Amino acid sequence: MAIERTLSIIKPDGVQKNLIGEIFGRFEKAGLKIVGAKMVHLSKAQAEGFYAVHSERPFFNDLVSYMTSGPVVVSALEGEDAVALHRKLLGATNPAEADAGTVRADFAESIEENIGHGSDATETAAQEIEYFFGSDGVCARTR
Ligand code: CMP
Repeated sequence: MAIERTLSIIKPDGVQKNLIGEIFGRFEKAGLKIVGAKMVHLSKAQAEGFYAVHSERPFFNDLVSYMTSGPVVVSALEGEDAVALHRKLLGATNPAEADAGTVRADFAESIEENIGHGSDATETAAQEIEYFFGSDGVCARTR
């Protein structure tokens, strides 16, 4: 297995429910290292840009409204098989289909308000990390 990086977002409902520590704790216990993290209240333009791939989907406007409704916590995570591991910890996009013990099964209300986002592949992870951390970069963690 390769060491990968992935982008994680704790969405406005996760922040509002005071779940930042709980969710980061699950990531760290599973072996992922946090190599970048910040709280951001996304502008409409930032949310639209991040989700541009979904711009033709019927849920796009609601998604942008929701993602700009309050602050989010954006982080870059590093570890073995990080992209798949992080998505496994989050659970299925639709919490009704998420495995027991996953973040979404435990805390998410609906497919629209689903607590977290995780990159779906290493290529998108690199783009998404660049989108949020850009020239700030992320930290190299040797320990
Ligand atoms: P996320 O993993 O951030 O990627 C796109 C987001 O769109 C998804 O999580 C959900 O929050 C949201 N969304 C809303 N409705 C749907 C839907 N029907 N199918 C997929 N994603 C949806």
